[in-house]
Amino acid sequence: MVQALAIRERITNWVDVCHLSAIKPNTGVCALVENQQIAIFRVGKDADLYAISNYDPFSKTFVLSRGIIGDRNGIPKVASPIYKQNFNLITGQCFDDETVSVPTYLARVVNDRVQVAISDLS
Ligand code: FES
Repeated sequence: MVQALAIRERITNWVDVCHLSAIKPNTGVCALVENQQIAIFRVGKDADLYAISNYDPFSKTFVLSRGIIGDRNGIPKVASPIYKQNFNLITGQCFDDETVSVPTYLARVVNDRVQVAISDLS
């Protein structure tokens, strides 16, 4: 019980990133949070946010925030701007290579501020 509480506290360590209006609809931004580059995407016109690592394991560069947002069978995805591999924004799984995935993070909007949470467990 005590352990479960500790884990929950770590997951809900939210970090303020920017105002929601700083992310144009259907684009991404990159944020440096606790020394990790995180790509945050705003899908659609509302406050639908997804956060994954900014690191593209195929090109080995930090570019995913500049990828093109789309969807595959209703699942939001981003295509790397370098070699165009597609990543599931919910799970981080690569659609083009089942052996590859990128870390995902929690993202939310509070009072029009974008926040992300980094879990030590991921
Ligand atoms: S820190 Fe985000 S692109 Fe360089």
